[in-house]
Amino acid sequence: MTKRLEWIARHAADATWSAARAAEFARELGFAPEDAWAIAISTSELVTNAVRYAGWGRVILRPLHDPMVGLEVRVEDRGPGIADMEAVWVDGYSAGRFVREPQERTSLGTGLGAVRRLMDWAGMERREGGGLAVIARKWVGTVPSAARASKAR
Ligand SMILES: Nc1ncnc2c1ncn2[C@@H]1O[C@H](COP(=O)(O)OP(=O)(O)OP(=O)(O)O)[C@@H](O)[C@H]1O
Ligand SMILES: [Mg+2]
Repeated sequence: MTKRLEWIARHAADATWSAARAAEFARELGFAPEDAWAIAISTSELVTNAVRYAGWGRVILRPLHDPMVGLEVRVEDRGPGIADMEAVWVDGYSAGRFVREPQERTSLGTGLGAVRRLMDWAGMERREGGGLAVIARKWVGTVPSAARASKAR
């Protein structure tokens, strides 16, 4: 059985190898290549956020087994957290507010939206002692991502 993996990401470049490790882990669990890459991209987005907004983050990958085989990506940090943990999933929500025009945003604000579209489930929680944990899960052999995007809450 594939065991849990854990590491610390400190630099923007760590998103790349974190993504590669996540893809490998997903393949070991039985995910199809396109789903393994969806997991990799999501991992990259979450690591990028942790490094960018909190300085560093701890990445934890773990298999899910009951009742379906799946994978959980958890990226936790000790940064400032997010005040509105619902709004932040909406595309265009960046730096604490929603900005309609992409050219007026300080960043695109689409990373978390993309994670929710690519994965089966994504959520976040405040950590005791400060910081944020963002969690995303995907299960092997579920329906194509486009079909489930609207109900992935
Ligand atoms: N780990 C985090 N700690 C604190 N704030 C965060 C964290 N992750 C995201 N945020 C906040 O949530 C906002 C939205 O994040 P999201 O990843 O969707 O977009 P972005 O990082 O602004 O831009 P993009 O990912 O499209 O380059 C960010 O602008 C930031 O304010
Ligand atoms: Mg982002």
